[in-house]
Amino acid sequence: MIIRFLVGFILTAFSQQVIAQCSIIPTPSSYLEVGGEHSLEKQISVVSTSLSKGNRDFLKEQLNNLFSIELITVKKKPTIQFLRSEKLNSSYEIHVGETIIITYKTDADAFYAIASLMQLIDEKAGVVTVKKCEISDSPQFQWRGLHLDVARHFFTVDEVKRYIDLMAFYKFNTFHWHLTDDQGWRIEIKQYPRLTEVGAYRDSTLVGHYNASPRVYEKKKYGGFYTQEEIKEVVAYAAQKYVTVVPEIELPGHARAAIAAYPELSCTEQFLPVPGLWGVFDDIFCSKPETVQFLKNVLDEVVELFPADYIHIGGDEAPKERWNHCEKCEKVISENGLADAHELQSYFIQQMDDYLTAKGKKIIGWDEILEGGLSTNAAVMSWRGEEGGIEAANQKHNVVMSPTTYCYFDYYQSGSADEPLAIGGFLPLEKVYNYSIVPKEITAIAKKYILGGQANLWTEYIEDFEQVEYMVYPRALALIQNLWSKNKVNYNDFLAVFSTYQEPLLQKMKVNYSRSVYLPELKISRTENGVEYTFVSKRNEELKLTKETNRFDMGIGLQIGELEGNSYESQRTIFQLEEGYSINLKSSFLPKPIKYTFKNHSGLGLPVQLITKPHPKYSTNGDLTLVDGVVGARPWKGDQWLGFNEKETEIIVDLPENNVTEITVGFLDAKGSWIYLPQSIVLLVEDENGVWKKSKEVFITEEYQKIDLSVKAKRLKFKVISIDEIPKGNEGAGFQPWTFIDEIIIK
Ligand code: ACM
Ligand code: ZN
Repeated sequence: MIIRFLVGFILTAFSQQVIAQCSIIPTPSSYLEVGGEHSLEKQISVVSTSLSKGNRDFLKEQLNNLFSIELITVKKKPTIQFLRSEKLNSSYEIHVGETIIITYKTDADAFYAIASLMQLIDEKAGVVTVKKCEISDSPQFQWRGLHLDVARHFFTVDEVKRYIDLMAFYKFNTFHWHLTDDQGWRIEIKQYPRLTEVGAYRDSTLVGHYNASPRVYEKKKYGGFYTQEEIKEVVAYAAQKYVTVVPEIELPGHARAAIAAYPELSCTEQFLPVPGLWGVFDDIFCSKPETVQFLKNVLDEVVELFPADYIHIGGDEAPKERWNHCEKCEKVISENGLADAHELQSYFIQQMDDYLTAKGKKIIGWDEILEGGLSTNAAVMSWRGEEGGIEAANQKHNVVMSPTTYCYFDYYQSGSADEPLAIGGFLPLEKVYNYSIVPKEITAIAKKYILGGQANLWTEYIEDFEQVEYMVYPRALALIQNLWSKNKVNYNDFLAVFSTYQEPLLQKMKVNYSRSVYLPELKISRTENGVEYTFVSKRNEELKLTKETNRFDMGIGLQIGELEGNSYESQRTIFQLEEGYSINLKSSFLPKPIKYTFKNHSGLGLPVQLITKPHPKYSTNGDLTLVDGVVGARPWKGDQWLGFNEKETEIIVDLPENNVTEITVGFLDAKGSWIYLPQSIVLLVEDENGVWKKSKEVFITEEYQKIDLSVKAKRLKFKVISIDEIPKGNEGAGFQPWTFIDEIIIK
């Protein structure tokens, strides 16, 4: 087998063509360059009878922070004119000519116009200019949300304000503040002081991934909470930036912190500590009237603090284990003529809905609240896919789209081994960009119930605010294109605008945004005798390959530009000598070299037939994934594995001509993600008549299952048999577990 490295100096998205696009993200509804530039002096003034003090302060602060321009009150000729007009056809218009004229409808629109203007200003060698242009702009969706989980890790008031600053600058308008969860209760409730005295702190925290075995904990007190004064401060701060704060008080599940404070709220009424482990816990709020009253009392205080129309009541991931064995819950079921615990969940939510509705609020909850019947005024946040959103909209309920596949910013954003630990999944920038908020299957009537969408940032694996920014940016810029822009440009143009105009701004704002988008794309394809790796540059730059192992002799610091035809065929002998090898790829756009590790084996590039189809979510590179020499990363990232969700998975692999003595099959054991080692593999060989004969059955005991064998056959069939169902006491108990495979290593 040979492996060929091709290093493509292929200019894709970031080529230095003349960019005619507008520098603003989200892209405005219309943008017209009229030629020429308006230059800005170091002191400018505005004229307006209508601009609010808050917006004037925002303009002043932005000009000063980003461009060291001073906004002064008196000047003969004003630089910017603000005009309020109720009759405008759009939210705002910007005219840049000899003067800058901004027309807007509401104060929020003036704020957005200022944010846009900041993105039009260009600074080169101390000279500050604005291209002469005409802009007209309005948003597409009314709910443009970003969520932050402050329960798993706590973020200070200043950090939360910073989160709001950045989101507002990019025209997000809804901050979903996830204030309570198993691992911490973060909002002061005056009637129940123990919620924060006890519930805001845990004694230990999981270190490393949930799927690690054994699990390791840091035994240190961790926690924090916001006083009601601090909450008011944040809400008022957000309002100045036209951001509505929607609080989430999780119920009936994810309630362990509250139960630690007041054990009588649960079914067993036993003391349980605030857990330092992530996941879904069986102990939830009991459905008895006393707990319902407690929650109403909590909501009384919450409602006073948050002027938002909506209060988020959670509703997700509430196992019915305790409810099914609780006399008090049984009583609620029988007294209210409910069929089972699922209807009990619906009844529970209904009581919250009625209570909040009477107080002039509306509830929003995760899509599980659809189960057992949806209460009248409830809005649904569709997270387990798009189906919940479609169903809710069909039932004429408002919907916020936030499906994991496109909107979970706690997922990995690249397949690089250097990404900081994350929960799993794979959500690169391009995937966020290509998301369409309105599900394809939805009817025209149901469509109008889609309020918008949001990204969620769960923080199990996000310990500090730097990492919050890393996970959210630049993916939030891709999402806002879908939420705001009626004139979304294609992905490559977006990338060009991002790197040319937005990165300098993000750097000025000191945002710790991820550069993962600049990782060269590793393309793997089959060749006659193996596989070929091509690194495609994402920037107008030369890639460098440097030597990592002694045997992998490509020359130290070899410039790709020096390679003839931009390709390089490695010497075969090198790979016959050593099984594993790695290379470092350096790029001036990345903070450190990126390491790629490959595994050489006799099966590279051999034909593979997937009789059982992998799930579309986990089949990025198709059958080649199994024989591409890239061994699936751990913790797992979605693009390097094939994921199957069947009892039996059948795969046929063509074998090399020489004798095969050993096969190692890589499986993933990631129980928290519902991924289990299979029970066994049955190997079958094909006889001369094309009949498959069982050759061996091997029980799976480890992630890299070695199978000794001696076969001389053209093809080998693997029948991978999963365990029956996810065992009790685990996440996803009772469901079919996933089987994740990579790679099939042949000797
Ligand atoms: C969720 O991610 N459990 C809403
Ligand atoms: Zn109960």
